[in-house]
Amino acid sequence: MDETSFVSALMGRMTLAEKIGQFNLLSAGEGPETGSAGVRNIRSRLEAGQLGAIFGTKSVRSVRAWQELALSGSRHAIPLFFAEDVIHGHRTIFPLPIALAGAFDPALWRDVARVSAREAAAEGINHVYAPMVDVARDARWGRVAESPGEDPFLAARYAEAMVAGLEGTDPLAPDTVVACLKHFLAYGAAVGGRDYDNASLGLEELIGVYAEPFRAGVAAGAGSVMASFNAVNKRPMHAHRALIRGWLRGDAGFAGLMVADYTGIAEISAHGLGDRATAAALALIAGIDMDMIGEDYVTHLPRLAEEGLARPESGLAIEAGEIVAAIEEACARVLALKYRLGLFDDPFRYCDEARAARTALSADHRALARRSIAESTVLLKNEGALPLAPGACVALIGAMADDRTNLLGTWAVSGDPAQAVTLREGLVALHGGEVCCVKGADLVDDTVLAGRLNVHGQTVFLDERPAEAMIAEAVAAARSADVAVVVVGEAKEYSGESSSRTEIGLPAPQRRLLEALAETGTPLVLVVKTGRPLALAEEVALADAVLLVWFAGTEAGNGIADVLTGVADPAGRLAMSFPARTGQVPVFHAAEPTGRPYSGRFEKFKTGYLDLPDTVPPATGLFPFGFGLSYTRFAYAAPRVDETALSGADARAVVRVSVQNVGARRGTTVAQLYVRDPVARITRPMRELKGFEKVVLEPGECREIVFTLTLSDLAYVMGDSLETLERVADPGTFVLATGPDARALQSVEITWQF
Ligand code: NOJ
Repeated sequence: MDETSFVSALMGRMTLAEKIGQFNLLSAGEGPETGSAGVRNIRSRLEAGQLGAIFGTKSVRSVRAWQELALSGSRHAIPLFFAEDVIHGHRTIFPLPIALAGAFDPALWRDVARVSAREAAAEGINHVYAPMVDVARDARWGRVAESPGEDPFLAARYAEAMVAGLEGTDPLAPDTVVACLKHFLAYGAAVGGRDYDNASLGLEELIGVYAEPFRAGVAAGAGSVMASFNAVNKRPMHAHRALIRGWLRGDAGFAGLMVADYTGIAEISAHGLGDRATAAALALIAGIDMDMIGEDYVTHLPRLAEEGLARPESGLAIEAGEIVAAIEEACARVLALKYRLGLFDDPFRYCDEARAARTALSADHRALARRSIAESTVLLKNEGALPLAPGACVALIGAMADDRTNLLGTWAVSGDPAQAVTLREGLVALHGGEVCCVKGADLVDDTVLAGRLNVHGQTVFLDERPAEAMIAEAVAAARSADVAVVVVGEAKEYSGESSSRTEIGLPAPQRRLLEALAETGTPLVLVVKTGRPLALAEEVALADAVLLVWFAGTEAGNGIADVLTGVADPAGRLAMSFPARTGQVPVFHAAEPTGRPYSGRFEKFKTGYLDLPDTVPPATGLFPFGFGLSYTRFAYAAPRVDETALSGADARAVVRVSVQNVGARRGTTVAQLYVRDPVARITRPMRELKGFEKVVLEPGECREIVFTLTLSDLAYVMGDSLETLERVADPGTFVLATGPDARALQSVEITWQF
């Protein structure tokens, strides 16, 4: 029987209560809980036929047990599906998404997603809450760690590749899962960078920037989308009918499953739209199919389906018939997904203990994880201290230098730190010379903060020794070494969900450590571990080299050692601009021109900051988007175009840029193409990324990189309402700029008439 006939025949036998039961989504409680609601009694829900899916199982055995209960508890033997947060790997943990995005490498993203899907599916999981594709421009927001960064074009390419890797081409294949694009929409635009806070944005930005990766992910076939916690333009996203039913299902053509986030439906009430029954009605009508944790659908929909909803205080009236129709529609979507996954044929099709055991952390998965570290590690500064000289005596300093608890990074719920490699272990294995390791400083010295950072298990250990004693030990180690490699940055949960910061500098004890080490005169290499861009101007000035490794996952120590020793070139680039100071955020390359533009140095009555040095452009930060050095050097020629005057809507602009490796080693560069439309109907960004290509070149080798643009690449979103939104392009001049990052650009102009 085909999907539609099967689903409608099954629904014909189901009561309304059974249909509503399919919407209930609860946590197995086998991992850390992310909200305050706690774990519900899944067993009683299953017995009452009131559960559609479970997330957070941690083994095949438990999936099997829940599935058996579900089948026996349901009159129609409707199986559950099982979901999990597989954000940067499942058992094999890869670098954080903000790091991986900086690999600028769709093939790598696909491979990482394939491995993640293979490991998750082997444990009975068939739905993953990934990829997170929230554009993020405010580094105070802790969830930038999970995001592909500030740029909608890069985020869209990341979304497509991740969906392709997770879902593969066959939903029935035992190693594919359903992807979930999250969090729809503009979760990353939270005011003040405060997690869960609201966003008010113009439609040009909302749809043109924040929705872009969702559009791309849906086009790539994503089977599901998760709503975001915040309110956008005064409407909680879980109740945002115009964006969910209107834009996502309408304009973007999304036909898959829409899931709530954790208690997100209940929170409509906290947003001030009425009681919990109102919240349930609004979410259902907006187009949310499954209710995570809050259980407002199972609690309130049966009555709403009989009586409808009337709330004169908010002018709300929903007919019972509309509720019933929405229940039918949502239930059909849940069942269709189960059908597509083949669960009606074999509810245990993903459960295979032997496959799970041989798949998790297999040698080839670990090898990919190790390679992905070099691909996403960013060399921010190098005055000759890197790569380490063979045989050099290294003082390896820092609380995270030989610590496993901080290796995986946030949102690695199924990762096992015991399986991860520390930097000391990796370096000792690879580096020929002596490696002496000392702590140097605590990660933070504020006990209240340390308590908050230890919420998912202890990762911050406050030393009993006085700070001065630890610094003295580190200074002595540095003095007797050829080079000091100092690992600094954030503890694992200093970024992530509910981890916003007001200051994004290095914590005080680590800063003091660096100042003392700088006075030794021993060359200083900073290895920066973080889940967000940090404001590091002073620390960068003290160092001879700065290597940004983010949180690198299971193979952290090996992958970072590959780069430190020069076995691999640091091939990552910044997916988010780095500010010089916290007060500079949000800072992103696609800033708009002002009427009083910055001229390259501070001028009174022009855009800029009084207290920022002229060396830091106010709109691109200390290190711009796309930036990253290599161990070799590259020379970019000016871009050339095949035609400078184009005509016709079907024409194509061909841009060529030659890049040569002018150094002595093999290395990687990411050629980037940006465009600017200098005269348009509305103010347009100073640069928009429209193409990138990662190339590896031998010494002396030269490569011509060719980018092709169509008119739709130059179009932008404009309109007064979601209903009247259009994509328009304006004829005339366009500036096309190429180079190795968003600042070091050379440009050429074309005209395009159509
Ligand atoms: C809350 C997070 O916002 C979301 O990303 C995640 O998928 C769910 N919790 C489930 O863990």
